[in-house]
Amino acid sequence: IPVEEQEITTAKAAAQRLKIGTYFVLWWSLNVVFNIYNKKVLNVFPYPWLTSTLSLAAGSTIMLLSWATRLAAAPELDAEFWKNLAPVALAHTIGHVAATVSMSKVAVSFTHIIKSSEPAFSVLISRFLLGESFPLPVYLSLIPIIGGCALTAATELNFNVTGFVGAMISNIAFVFRNIFSKRGMVKSNKVGGMNYYACLSMLSLVFLTPFAFAVEGPKLWASGWQQATETVGQQFFWWVMAQSVFYHLYNQVSYMSLNEISPLTFSIGNTMKRVTVIVSSIIVFHTPVLPVNAVGAAIAILGTFLYSQRPATKNPKNIEAPKKI
Ligand code: 3PG
Repeated sequence: IPVEEQEITTAKAAAQRLKIGTYFVLWWSLNVVFNIYNKKVLNVFPYPWLTSTLSLAAGSTIMLLSWATRLAAAPELDAEFWKNLAPVALAHTIGHVAATVSMSKVAVSFTHIIKSSEPAFSVLISRFLLGESFPLPVYLSLIPIIGGCALTAATELNFNVTGFVGAMISNIAFVFRNIFSKRGMVKSNKVGGMNYYACLSMLSLVFLTPFAFAVEGPKLWASGWQQATETVGQQFFWWVMAQSVFYHLYNQVSYMSLNEISPLTFSIGNTMKRVTVIVSSIIVFHTPVLPVNAVGAAIAILGTFLYSQRPATKNPKNIEAPKKI
């Protein structure tokens, strides 16, 4: 290869790394803010089905306004696109509401420690449901991930079954969401990460709204809202706004990353993000942590790091696909 061409390739690779690095930093920071406000809201207003719905509603509104004002170019979509999006939106809805229900029952740090085993679910689901095989070191790295999470769960001071099961359901749902989102983005070929996530938000909102009414409903919301406002004052409204808007922003940036990387790399980035969330939420909420509990979390996260050092998968389904638009 001529030297000039080589230089151009190196410069392009460096620019790509910088872009993905910037997305990751933004994704993680926005997520920390979301988690703090989400928990502040849930502490005084324990209605996770409504807060989950509001997060999706905020995202849908932001994107509809962005398209209407041409701040973002609206995608051209056909019925086939929405049909393919439906199962992804179902997985997003389930994963989102399950995580929020979990966080309404346990400390933010506990939900995220359990959610740090998402890559393990990614491997197991890819292996047993999608028939993808991985080299032995990948399977071995699952031992510390699962063992570490088990140790943390067993020693958690405020263990709660709903909190634990919610985080596990979220793990499974989000693995499906990530794998099929990536396939959907590659297949649709002209919808980038930002617009793909916008459509996902809108369809998930349609799915979630009737369930939120059925599970909680306006009566509980009205009395809960009044109580929360009496407890923390008018700022409660702004906390709800913050959790809703930041939920959309961090997910939008995460989808812009997913458009550039494989679902596996995405899961690893997401687990590393949880270290930031776990540490900051323990500080903000003064969460009591036993040393053995912290050791479990450290082992689980170390397992994910080892997993990220994996050799390439045996078959090429998970290779990084180039971004389209
Ligand atoms: C949600 O409500 O969707 C979860 O809190 C977010 O989970 P994530 O950290 O996997 O995005």
